[in-house]
Amino acid sequence: MASAWWPCLILALLSGLAASGFPRSPFLLLGKRSLPEGVANGVEVYSTKINSKVTSRFAHNVVTTRAVNRADTAKEVSFDVELPKTAFITNFTLTIDGVTYPGNVKEKEVAKKQYEKAISQGKTAGLVKASGRKLEKFTVSVNVAAGSKVTFELTYEELLKRHKGKYEMYLKVQPKQLIKHFEIDVDIFEPQGISMLDAEASFITNDLLGSALTKSFSGKKGHVSFKPSLDQQRSCPTCTDSLLNGDFTITYDVNRESPGNVQIVNGYFVHFFAPQGLPVVPKNVAFVIDISGSMAGRKLEQTKEALLRILEDMEEDYLNFILFSGDVSTWKEHLVQATPENLQEARTFVKSMEDKGMTNINDGLLRGISMLNKAREEHRVPERSTSIVIMLTDGDANVGESRPEKIQENVRNAIGGKFPLYNLGFGNNLNYNFLENMALENHGFARRIYEDSDADLQLQGFYEEVANPLLTGVEMEYPENAILGLTQNTYQHFYDGSEIVVAGHLVGEDVNSFKADVKGHGAANDLTFTEEVDMKEMEKALQERDYIFGNYIERLWAYLTIEQLLEKRKNAHGEEKENLTAQALDLSLKYHFVTPLTSMVVTKPEDNEDERAIADKPGEDAEATPVSPAMSYLTSYQPPQNPYYYVDGDPHFIIQVPEKDDALCFNINEAPGTVLRLIQDPVTGLTVNGQIVGDKRSSPDSKTRKTYFGKLGIANAQMDFQVEVTTEKITLWNRAVPSTFSWLDTVTVTQDGLSMMINRKKNMVVSFGDGVTFVVVLHQVWKKHPVHRDFLGFYVVDSHRMSAQTHGLLGQFFQPFDFKVFDIRPGSDPTKPDATLMVKNHQLTVTRGSQRDYRKDASIGTKVVCWFVHNNGEGLIDGVHTDYIVPNLF
Ligand SMILES: *[C@@H]1O[C@H](CO)[C@@H](O)[C@H](O)[C@H]1NC(C)=O
Ligand SMILES: *[C@@H]1O[C@H](CO)[C@@H](O)[C@H](O)[C@H]1NC(C)=O
Repeated sequence: MASAWWPCLILALLSGLAASGFPRSPFLLLGKRSLPEGVANGVEVYSTKINSKVTSRFAHNVVTTRAVNRADTAKEVSFDVELPKTAFITNFTLTIDGVTYPGNVKEKEVAKKQYEKAISQGKTAGLVKASGRKLEKFTVSVNVAAGSKVTFELTYEELLKRHKGKYEMYLKVQPKQLIKHFEIDVDIFEPQGISMLDAEASFITNDLLGSALTKSFSGKKGHVSFKPSLDQQRSCPTCTDSLLNGDFTITYDVNRESPGNVQIVNGYFVHFFAPQGLPVVPKNVAFVIDISGSMAGRKLEQTKEALLRILEDMEEDYLNFILFSGDVSTWKEHLVQATPENLQEARTFVKSMEDKGMTNINDGLLRGISMLNKAREEHRVPERSTSIVIMLTDGDANVGESRPEKIQENVRNAIGGKFPLYNLGFGNNLNYNFLENMALENHGFARRIYEDSDADLQLQGFYEEVANPLLTGVEMEYPENAILGLTQNTYQHFYDGSEIVVAGHLVGEDVNSFKADVKGHGAANDLTFTEEVDMKEMEKALQERDYIFGNYIERLWAYLTIEQLLEKRKNAHGEEKENLTAQALDLSLKYHFVTPLTSMVVTKPEDNEDERAIADKPGEDAEATPVSPAMSYLTSYQPPQNPYYYVDGDPHFIIQVPEKDDALCFNINEAPGTVLRLIQDPVTGLTVNGQIVGDKRSSPDSKTRKTYFGKLGIANAQMDFQVEVTTEKITLWNRAVPSTFSWLDTVTVTQDGLSMMINRKKNMVVSFGDGVTFVVVLHQVWKKHPVHRDFLGFYVVDSHRMSAQTHGLLGQFFQPFDFKVFDIRPGSDPTKPDATLMVKNHQLTVTRGSQRDYRKDASIGTKVVCWFVHNNGEGLIDGVHTDYIVPNLF
């Protein structure tokens, strides 16, 4: 029992490059059973949902994947998510057969020790680490028993940053197999109003996506949904592999009627600042370029390409090229203005650049910096211009001053905080941390340029971000003594297309007097923008409860604070570093963020009889025994109810909707002999039809005559399989070879991907590869009954592997659908109220009724209450009921 209860959690949170998927097992080749499509190595991932809520740039993403092990042995099931480096994981839970194993955020050392302890004791645990790469790979593998289901749920949060005029959200999509329910659902709420919104997938053109992708926005709200059907996921019409593999990117921007926007919720404020329409401040650029031997070939060619294009956009600017290898050479002695003649000369110079020798980063940078300093001192550049250093290298310093700390110190002293340094690391063969630390402590940032065919575009793209400074020396000022925990509020530059975000915690209650002043130097003058809070607008916005997740500004503040503390920490030492670490750690733990200082630990509860016994007896002695989190899940665990659909009686159709905890029902009145289509799925090839029989009365008056299903035909075209069920016998054709069984048999038939079990005189259960299960119930009446005769009921108890294209009187309801019941009022029968039902854009009058579910007992049944739709289900079913009449059973 124990091993069935506690699945073996094979560890594994790997960072970065670990390639993983569903491991290929030799059993797949040896086993005879052929599994239906969408099942890899016996594991079927039947649902993946990415649900995102973005409120004021703060994105809360939940990735949920559900899988079932259809193999007859335990299998490893993996869950891989790639998320942006800038995101923090905030939660992870694992649910196996209804038991949830929660993740807890722990301090890294503590987490590691616990993890190691678990390992040394032969227990297993998952550990989530944030690695330092650009995209982080989150991987968890668990061993899942045969027939068991597993659900992974990962939550992460991120502040979307504005680049080149828009916010971008990347969702990496890589399901590795066809997934019945695949869905990305994104809600965006922006109090400033949304001005544009787009979504695209790198793996397919929007035309081909067709109906799978919808995007819309209006006012403050935007919505994106991507829900490809199984067929739309196929890499070709007959393929069983998925074409979903790449980035799903959502971009949007907000209205910018005012330069900034302040939002306050629960004592936390956030200030977004991005003024428009200011003239560009001319800049003085020192391009410090590595031409060492390792740059030879494509890297140098791409660098030249990028520089040539950058030159096209320089007009009023001043520039110079400083080339470094073992030594340093420059194009001009001083910075020169980008006049047409100079630009022509610059182009010739760039084209002539040749690689040689070693890498002297220190001297290259110091030369560039001193040139900018001198130009300012000697008034060679305009008074209201701004300076930047852009350094590109593909390796580590290996000549001259090559100690990273010393280079950092030299550069820091030379720049003296006067202008920013941007470091571009070309390729992977370098100390990126060093480049990043150096850029950060000089108010710039580092970028990695990936060695690829588009490296020149990456370089150019970076340049565009810093090409248009609109303000320099930006200072954001808030009411003194009224703010705690203010995030960084001075910036050397505001670049066009970006946005400055500052957050903090208000000390007092008086939000109405909140005021922010933003000061900066523009191209022509100094500017001060004053921002006040429109509390009325704020309150109005906050009423959009569906869109706002409660304390989003507080979390945004915590996110930003942690991010900045971690950046500062990179260049801190000794006590200061300890202080920064302690602060960042406290916040990470408090707000449940997985940062470089913390880990998420998923531990299985202690595996001993006592705990399980307690878990079985909720409420007893709860105080005395410490209850582990997993145990509390155990006590509250309720087996999930599958939705079910059935038709029974004279035919009553029942559609249960679990989301609503309610059911809809309707009757179909047709003449005996009519065959009705109950299910048709073009993807799995499954169809179910039913033929109507009348009662024993000879009168054909359908008003009084009762009709039932007397014959059912279940077919799977792909398997060349048919079964005909009557009230007397069951006939099965497998590749046209018939076998006949009687309702007096108790028999189980199993073959590839199919099992059929007849329970003598009661029912028959047919399963196709476990993802589809039907039950046929036999109703027998007294043989000599003057009116009634035997009939059949048909129940769908599992339909999750059926495709979204499934249709038919029952099949059309397998996909989640919505309905609303309102205006409940007395009906003509006082015990059965009427109501109005809104479904599929129809407004119908329905009557409360009840039917019976005979799965357990064909004579008594259990009562199911439902809203009865009159007139053969008109308005609820697609089309009219006669559309479902087919000529024969198969
Ligand atoms: C983590 O997710 C689970 C499942 O959705 C939820 O019950 C739990 O409250 C979450 N924990 C936190 C700290 O948000
Ligand atoms: C560290 O924090 C303490 C208290 O929070 C403070 O007194 C001290 O000055 C800080 N040290 C440094 C180096 O920042």
